Amino acid sequence: MAEHKILLIGCGDMGTQHAKAWAAIGQPIGALVDIDEERLQRLGDTYAIDRRFTRYDEAIAEMHDADIVDICVPLAFHLPVTLQACAAKKHILCEKPLARSLDEADSMDQAVKAAGIKFAIGFQRNLPPWVNFLRREVQAGHFGHPLLFTCDSMAEVRPKRFMHDRHGNNGPVVDLLEHYFLLWETVFDAKPVDVGAFGFIAAHDRPEIAQFPEKAIDTAVVTIRYASGDVGTVTVSWGLAAGCRISETPDRLIGPKRVAMPASSEGGGWTLYEGPREAHRAFPSVNAHALQAQAFIEYVDGERENPPSSLAVGREMLQLSLAALTSIETGHVVSVSEA
Ligand SMILES: NC(=O)c1ccc[n+]([C@@H]2O[C@H](COP(=O)([O-])OP(=O)(O)OC[C@H]3O[C@@H](n4cnc5c(N)ncnc54)[C@H](O)[C@@H]3O)[C@@H](O)[C@H]2O)c1
Repeated sequence: MAEHKILLIGCGDMGTQHAKAWAAIGQPIGALVDIDEERLQRLGDTYAIDRRFTRYDEAIAEMHDADIVDICVPLAFHLPVTLQACAAKKHILCEKPLARSLDEADSMDQAVKAAGIKFAIGFQRNLPPWVNFLRREVQAGHFGHPLLFTCDSMAEVRPKRFMHDRHGNNGPVVDLLEHYFLLWETVFDAKPVDVGAFGFIAAHDRPEIAQFPEKAIDTAVVTIRYASGDVGTVTVSWGLAAGCRISETPDRLIGPKRVAMPASSEGGGWTLYEGPREAHRAFPSVNAHALQAQAFIEYVDGERENPPSSLAVGREMLQLSLAALTSIETGHVVSVSEA
């Protein structure tokens, strides 16, 4: 593996995870960027990175020896940082979601193609071995057909308030559910056909997010039907009352022959139920961000043909999120081809 130099933009939660991942695979971070100087200092001190910037445009312009830009800032900055990084001909690993709109996504696509750089989007949750295990078991016919994948995610109002801004990360339907959409598509090995959703803003009168003139939908049930006849459905809320420690319902993959559920909420494998029989399948714990970083470097080095997740996949997942929001708004099922 060739050595690269990373310019890491954003030193919050994802920036911290990515810094750990780059260290795990032995790729040096050349400089850090954050508007928050405390975060800049904390991450810089942890990994002994002396070059620190508070402006990404200056960092991109000055860091001639960095060939990779790693984008870990809120969604509103994914397009402008990508455009600057493309202009400087740097490869890009960008956190999901790709963009706020399909127009933004298309601008990113054009810039990436014009610059001839390599781009990947951060859907690291699709990389642990259990995802591929479920996909293989489904494709081998061990679950039967059709399948229902049910998922559930519950949280209070997010401490990162930009998550609730309709013009920021646009709530869980955009910020979170794309992980599930990609999981379903991978396991079913089929393309989505239509999306039906209901939702509302549970936290509409919470003072923590009163500053946003338009708040994002924070509570929804989203169902997608796939060309294979399989169905994925997720219930999500980021509007629970503070301190509410509700247990999430575990994911379930339900087929006519077999059902699978995670063995525990902490991970630790999946239990497969086949009639009265139960089998447990354990998986080694992995650092999914490190798997992603490694796959991205292999892609940049030309050792693998495709990125861990491509810009096109990011656009497709965004399109599904936006279709779900349209379905919530209109009360109609939205065909993916028309979304
Ligand atoms: N892949 C995943 O599982 C996953 C999980 C969480 C978040 N994310 C995504 O990662 C991105 C970052 O989210 P996060 O959870 O790390 O948020 P965060 O708030 O923890 O970190 C974002 C950082 O960006 C900095 N920042 C904001 N504007 C900036 C600017 N203009 N220039 C430089 N720095 C700026 C903030 O000060 C903050 O430190 C979002 O797009 C989010 O959707 C992905």
